[in-house]
Parts: sequence; structure tokens; C-alpha cells
Amino acid sequence: MEKEFIVKVVKNGPLVVSGDFKLVLPSGEEQEVTRKTFFCRCGQSKNKPYCDGAHAAVKFDE
Ligand code: FES
Repeated sequence: MEKEFIVKVVKNGPLVVSGDFKLVLPSGEEQEVTRKTFFCRCGQSKNKPYCDGAHAAVKFDE
């Protein structure tokens, strides 16, 4: 059975990625991800590449 991999774009919010995948950081570090993960699209997160909720405070409007 093929694994399901879903990327959802949240209006005025993050990308939500569901499924098993490998994340490669700018440092070259690789992380195996097996849970739903929220990635920042607004550029304001203090924990990039992850969303920390800052999009709400800055009223991110796509
Ligand atoms: S999208 Fe949530 S902090 Fe940027």
C-alpha cells in the first residue's frame, strides 16, 4: 500500500504536512519526521522552519 502524504495550505497560516518524510535543514542536518508538522509561511516564526503561531500576531494575509 502506498503511503499517504498530504500538504495542506492553511489560509493566512502555515503549511501542514502529514506523513512520513525527511526534513533537511540548511545546516545539512536531516530529521526523520513521522508526525503532523506545521511549517511557517509568514516568515515571522522564531523557530523556523516551524510555525510558532506568530502569523496570528502579525495578521499574516496571504
Ligand atoms: S506561518 Fe505561523 S509563524 Fe509563520
